[in-house]
Amino acid sequence: MCGRASIEKLCSRCLFIFPVVASITVIWTMFIASNNITPKLTDILAEVDLNETNVNTHKGYITLNEINEFVFKPFGYEIIEATLPVPTVHMLNEPSCGFIFSEWLRVSQKPQPSIPPKEIPESFSDEFLLNGYAGLTKWYFNDHSSTGDSPRNWNRTSEFMSFSKAELGALAYNKESESMYHAMSGYPLRSKSGLVIGSMQPWVEVMALKHGVRKVLTVEYNSLTIPNEFRSRLSAIKPVEFAENWQTYAGTFDFAASFSSIEHSGLGRYGDIIDPIGDLREMLKIRCLLKKGGLLFLGIPFGTDAIQYNAHRIYGSIRLAMMFYGFDWLATYSGESELPIDLTTTLLHSKGPSQYAQYTVVLKKI
Ligand SMILES: *[C@@H]1O[C@H](CO)[C@@H](O)[C@H](O)[C@H]1NC(C)=O
Ligand SMILES: *[C@@H]1O[C@H](CO)[C@@H](O)[C@H](O)[C@H]1NC(C)=O
Repeated sequence: MCGRASIEKLCSRCLFIFPVVASITVIWTMFIASNNITPKLTDILAEVDLNETNVNTHKGYITLNEINEFVFKPFGYEIIEATLPVPTVHMLNEPSCGFIFSEWLRVSQKPQPSIPPKEIPESFSDEFLLNGYAGLTKWYFNDHSSTGDSPRNWNRTSEFMSFSKAELGALAYNKESESMYHAMSGYPLRSKSGLVIGSMQPWVEVMALKHGVRKVLTVEYNSLTIPNEFRSRLSAIKPVEFAENWQTYAGTFDFAASFSSIEHSGLGRYGDIIDPIGDLREMLKIRCLLKKGGLLFLGIPFGTDAIQYNAHRIYGSIRLAMMFYGFDWLATYSGESELPIDLTTTLLHSKGPSQYAQYTVVLKKI
């Protein structure tokens, strides 16, 4: 079978194969070289995706290409993948953690108005409203005043430890708050240490402790009195002191949790400084504080991009993309369900303009 004749036959065929292989190599090399001067095929395909993928906004359906050019790029982001309902973006020039905290300290120490502004200051309008791609309605609060929303019930922490998830949820937003409990149940938190941002009542902290968390640090503007029996597990720090000492905490937390807090950052409602990107700054700060692979349990209002000034922001496809920068979006929990839900485009916009639902998303630091 393997006689000399067959080898000779094979080798005469080899002579024909050689020029074929050589020309393929030459063509391939030319193709690679041409890639350096003309746009890559993948870039062209990505651009087609951006022109053919739409997101729902208060102005109707808009192509991702338009959002990329008129919102993301001016805000310092760019789409890298046309995912829905939240496009995947990266930052054009990612700031260092040192810069993020020093900028936050600089902005937060500007003089603050004694009464929260009733309207978005004209000079900040485009920045607040995503260059016109976010809707605006009015819903005004002055929680800077002594009668406004302020921390309470920290002296009931012990009693709360015996509460069910429904009773804990009822301290805040009922069913919607239960999504935080469901999200925490989905991930191993035993013996972990975490950060809670913005707590009027210690319900998020108690949910964490009930999941076996070892230590929680709460970042809150107001002074909190933590009961003695919880002082080995719960502690609190004010945002300015925290930011000034960020290096002590950077990369140390296994998880962070925040429900109904970050959407208020920079709207002035709580007497905080007016800052159109206050929420995005918070996300960048949290990312600096988490360990790599650390989790963020984030509860915010979901809907079509809008601001109900100065009550809160509503997060749709556009702002969520910027919020989620640097994280993998692992899951979404709704108060209705112990298991994660599929947050589709339809569900995201199901409530209509200026309506929202609060879910807890689980994000993982990349
Ligand atoms: C995408 O749309 C923009 C604006 O309409 C256009 O300039 C560009 O050529 C389009 N790109 C592709 C690949 O279709
Ligand atoms: C907690 O503090 C509030 C306000 O100071 C007080 O009215 C309440 O009785 C306290 N509750 C407990 C359980 O100590």
